Amino acid sequence: MDRIRINGGRQLEGVIPISGAKNAALPLMIASLLTSETLTLKNVPNLADVNLLARILRNHGVDLAVDGKRPGPVQHLGETFHLTARDIVDSTAPYEMVSKMRASFWVLGPLLARCGEARVSMPGGCAIGTRPVDMHLAGLQALGAEIDIDGGYVVARAPRGLAGGRVTFPKVSVGATHNVLMAAALARGETLIENAAREPEVGDVASCLVKMGAEIEGIGTPTLRIQGIGALEGARHTVLPDRIETGTFAMAIAATGGNVVLKGARADLLKSAVDVLRSAGTEIREIEDGLRIVRNGAAVEPVRVETQPVPGFPTDLQAQLMALATTAGGTSTIRETIFENRFMHVQELVRLGANIDLQGDLATIRGVADLQGAPVMATDLRASVSLVIAGLMAEGETTINRVYHLDRGFERLEAKLNACGANIERLSG
Ligand code: UD1
Repeated sequence: MDRIRINGGRQLEGVIPISGAKNAALPLMIASLLTSETLTLKNVPNLADVNLLARILRNHGVDLAVDGKRPGPVQHLGETFHLTARDIVDSTAPYEMVSKMRASFWVLGPLLARCGEARVSMPGGCAIGTRPVDMHLAGLQALGAEIDIDGGYVVARAPRGLAGGRVTFPKVSVGATHNVLMAAALARGETLIENAAREPEVGDVASCLVKMGAEIEGIGTPTLRIQGIGALEGARHTVLPDRIETGTFAMAIAATGGNVVLKGARADLLKSAVDVLRSAGTEIREIEDGLRIVRNGAAVEPVRVETQPVPGFPTDLQAQLMALATTAGGTSTIRETIFENRFMHVQELVRLGANIDLQGDLATIRGVADLQGAPVMATDLRASVSLVIAGLMAEGETTINRVYHLDRGFERLEAKLNACGANIERLSG
């Protein structure tokens, strides 16, 4: 199994290109199931999760052609995918595939809307809590789906097609919003989704659906009104930049000190994280085609943060912020309100010398003078990258085991950081 070795203690200087957002690329690829015409997606990141979803979609009968291979390390235009679901040949998404990635469960709504039936395995993905699918199912039932659970599979049927309905989510769910939004685009009549997720990736999918001919009002708000139409068309769409990758690199620079341009990054996609980083003493300047992140000398100020759906601080940056807070000049608190059990990075950060006290959903981080390198274990996607940040900060050598998690969500992570003066190496086997 691959490991990553980091020699820490170096400042970062240079330019890092920001890739297309994983969390938008995945549902956008799934949206190709809604039409028999070609959906062309530009700026698709080259990630393990994207490749796995491509396999799942091919299994359903989606034809995928890829062009625009990256010519060099400073290119950040991503790949261009042409996805054509002329005929859905199989409306079953098998356990072997769905269990590896939770987002593949989102094929349920589109397959059901297009074929009138779907059989999708209950999902897997990062081990960060129980992550139920009850809201996905209730949302599709509100559009007329009949749902059974059979041998670990969700079996959904709508023999007479889906019909518009009213869906009020009891809590904000990105995935349930994607699932119901995509199904509603093909359902007969009007669907109202209340308490919809406002994450920018949901807006990106909704904008793409509009290009495909869907009628959607309220994009970017908690209330989405969708007029379903019988068939959607092909379209061309560019995946928006990855705000989590942006925030991760910004925190790495805040942690090590330095001066880096994040090319293609957009501050408006991660306002709360930008506010937190500025309050911690990092300079973030909007420049043409990106953001300049600077921190020179001064200690990181402690933070007080609670994860929340947009417009709050994202849970997907919680672990990275905690790494940054380990050497702050005072005591920070971070409360995780979205996922239980998303603190697996804590014990690993402690191995590097951090002082963190965990009580339920609240982590109290007392800043220490410095971290020291040590062997650590990656446990999930965002936790893994928090250990990379900690390794960059630490004196001496840090080895991170089980780094396959990183490849699910970060494109060319080592190359991007090494180009800015980091010393990271991947060790195979
Ligand atoms: C998506 C993101 C993930 C991010 C998360 C929250 C992708 C591919 N993944 O995951 O990176 O961390 O949003 O921003 O975009 N819940 C239920 N019932 C349901 C569905 C969800 O109780 O039917 C709960 C979850 O357990 C969790 C909360 O709702 O506590 C939010 O989860 P959700 O927004 O659905 O996360 P994902 O869409 O899986």
